[in-house]
Amino acid sequence: MTLERKLSNRTARVAVIGLGYVGLPQAVTIAEAGFQVTGIDLDPERVGSLRAERSYVGDIPSARLRAVIRNGRFAARTDFTMLGTADVVTICVPTPLSKTKDPDVSYIRAATAQMASALRRGQLIVLESTTYPGTTVEILKPALEATGLTAGRDFFLAFSPERIDPGNRRFTVRNTPKIVGGLTQRCTRLAVAFYRRFVERVVPVSSPGTAEMAKLLENTFRSINIALVNELAMMCDVLGVDVYEVIEAAATKPFGFMPFYPGPGLGGHCIPVDPEYLAWKLKAFDFTARFIGLAGEINAQMPQVVVAKVAEALNAAGKSVNGARLLVLGAAYKPNVGDVRESPAVTVVALLNQRGARVGYHDPFVPTLRVNGTSLASVRLTARLISAQDAVIILTNHDTFDIRSIVARARMVVDTRNATRGLMQFRDKIVKLGAPSLLLEALRAKGEAA
Ligand SMILES: NC(=O)c1ccc[n+]([C@@H]2O[C@H](COP(=O)([O-])OP(=O)(O)OC[C@H]3O[C@@H](n4cnc5c(N)ncnc54)[C@H](O)[C@@H]3O)[C@@H](O)[C@H]2O)c1
Repeated sequence: MTLERKLSNRTARVAVIGLGYVGLPQAVTIAEAGFQVTGIDLDPERVGSLRAERSYVGDIPSARLRAVIRNGRFAARTDFTMLGTADVVTICVPTPLSKTKDPDVSYIRAATAQMASALRRGQLIVLESTTYPGTTVEILKPALEATGLTAGRDFFLAFSPERIDPGNRRFTVRNTPKIVGGLTQRCTRLAVAFYRRFVERVVPVSSPGTAEMAKLLENTFRSINIALVNELAMMCDVLGVDVYEVIEAAATKPFGFMPFYPGPGLGGHCIPVDPEYLAWKLKAFDFTARFIGLAGEINAQMPQVVVAKVAEALNAAGKSVNGARLLVLGAAYKPNVGDVRESPAVTVVALLNQRGARVGYHDPFVPTLRVNGTSLASVRLTARLISAQDAVIILTNHDTFDIRSIVARARMVVDTRNATRGLMQFRDKIVKLGAPSLLLEALRAKGEAA
């Protein structure tokens, strides 16, 4: 039976390599669409958890996982033995940066080597990991063709970037349009036919390189716009204007403007990392990606900006960072998830510790946090704990936080996310990035009068 036919009658066997934030939701969604899916991950703990029907990815409740395991559509394993019988294989392995901030494509190479050793005619292989333009053609194609089979004729190869937004309940694997760029037209047609079975809208493009670059444009766009508003917040601090009011006002323009908001810095596996993949690739062409570099610099300095703000706020209350009791609220890099990869909270806590503060943190999604080799445990959020702090620092505004009651009990709040908007009655104890503060203004006025 041809692959086209197997895809249309859903008898194609699918393998998903890498069962993390990207691979697991995808594998479960494909199984729910009626395909038989095998998930492969090197991490025995993750596979053990899946076999015990326990999900470790917030977007996939264990009940959804259990349903596809029990109806026989999904199984997880640590070995690659079934790759030879798979009709479609998607690769969703990590693409981090090395210590020197260069792309680390070793996971892609390793997964490709596993695939090459099982490659047979008629298979469709799709890389989904975010990576620099050229990866599919320069790394996957030669490694797979070393088997003697030819891409586009004997087997099919495409790149389709994953766009999942962990914690986003509105946009999921199913209703987020999927870009697909195949090596040949037939590769693209087959990959489109596959994704159409479980994604509402599939967008074919002319090559894997276009699909790779489109993903990097999306994430570079975010990095640059976040850097712009982070710098705007610093400008507003200097000018005494409220950055949030400025952004809300600008956002009333019905065309040509999209609001972004300042924060304590970038986090996660994507926005701080992906633009560096593009900048790295361009270096080989003697091309300096200046916007990417500048945005990276501004965003990377935000934890220091937060710490300076905390010091300024404590100073206004006659205190120093040294010896201050501080509570960080939210350690994850964004609301409603437990992902701490690249989270600015780690840097903020480390910098405050270095300055002699006694820092605790609370995050319902992050039970423990490693800072400079030491493991901290999330503290229980009680009224007593909050009122005993010299300042509460809001780094991530999880929906579960009762901000009003936290602010009511706190002596001082440094809010890096505008989580306290609307709480005017407490404004004499709230300090924000990029917004005038009664506390700091009172001190300034005193200094000027003296
Ligand atoms: N997390 C996101 O929000 C997101 C969104 C879009 C795209 N992406 C991209 O998707 C890719 C995967 O990201 P993630 O967040 O799912 O990563 P992750 O670290 O959560 O998961 C990757 C999984 O792959 C496994 N793995 C590593 N090498 C393997 C191999 N050779 N064979 C089998 N399994 C292997 C790891 O054990 C891990 O469980 C990255 O390129 C990332 O940039 C991530």
